[in-house]
Amino acid sequence: MAAFTLAHLSDPHLPPLPEPKVSELAGKRVLGYLHWRRKRHKYHRREVLDALVSDLRAQNPDHIAVTGDLVNLALEAEFPPARAWLESIGPPDRVTAIPGNHDLYVRATRRRFAETFSEYLGDEAKDAAAFPYLRKRGPLTLIGLSSALPTPPLMATGKLGASQLAALERLLAGLSPQTFRVLLVHHPLRSGSPFKRLTDSQKLTTLVKRHGVDLILHGHDHVHSTIWIDGPDGKIPAVGVPSASSLAHGLYPSAAYNQFAIAREGNGWRCDMTVRGINDAMRVREIRQIRLI
Ligand SMILES: [Fe+2]
Ligand SMILES: [Fe+2]
Repeated sequence: MAAFTLAHLSDPHLPPLPEPKVSELAGKRVLGYLHWRRKRHKYHRREVLDALVSDLRAQNPDHIAVTGDLVNLALEAEFPPARAWLESIGPPDRVTAIPGNHDLYVRATRRRFAETFSEYLGDEAKDAAAFPYLRKRGPLTLIGLSSALPTPPLMATGKLGASQLAALERLLAGLSPQTFRVLLVHHPLRSGSPFKRLTDSQKLTTLVKRHGVDLILHGHDHVHSTIWIDGPDGKIPAVGVPSASSLAHGLYPSAAYNQFAIAREGNGWRCDMTVRGINDAMRVREIRQIRLI
């Protein structure tokens, strides 16, 4: 049986940022807007994102996961271009999205993500704001979480909350071990920053240890990252990718995405990861390939 291929990209922070209305620039958005004007617009570049997506489309993966931060300040005018961009990657049955903290940046527009991308979320939950959700594609079961919520200025923390965690536990307990379980969450499960962390990550890792999944994909940190989380039968890889629109700057690498080739092997699974990223000449090439599982 040929391997099923799952591509993962994250944090496009879709550029350019539309000019905000004066009425939209209050509270947290003021700082976010100034930060964009001073710095972020220099390294989140549309031409980078377009080059990466063009390479990803040429690879023709079976499915694509996008783990949040599609927009920047969650302005009303950011959502229609973000929807058009996601459609340019693939139709809803080939692409699965979850929100990041920038997609629910302020309370006023906290429902726009779920409204705009409802067909890219769970297959069954017609209430688009319902997380966790499930999607089954080939041998995969994708489990989408939302760690995104509006936070005070300068904070980029995330939280799943008790009811989402309880629903996740029921859902994981009912999943067949015959399926390759991929957990999607915007925030990483471990973080060194009190301003950026998933505040209830301990509860999530406890659930993962009890019930297990096969692969965890996240964004948010904008760097290449693979860590190993305890599961019921061994370690589970949790993999993060850089921002899909970013030029290299400071500690942050240039844009990249990962592609996972997943196939049955014996009684278990084999999963090979290929990292593809952009170089200084704006060409996308393979950076490395490793066997994860
Ligand atoms: Fe981000
Ligand atoms: Fe984020």
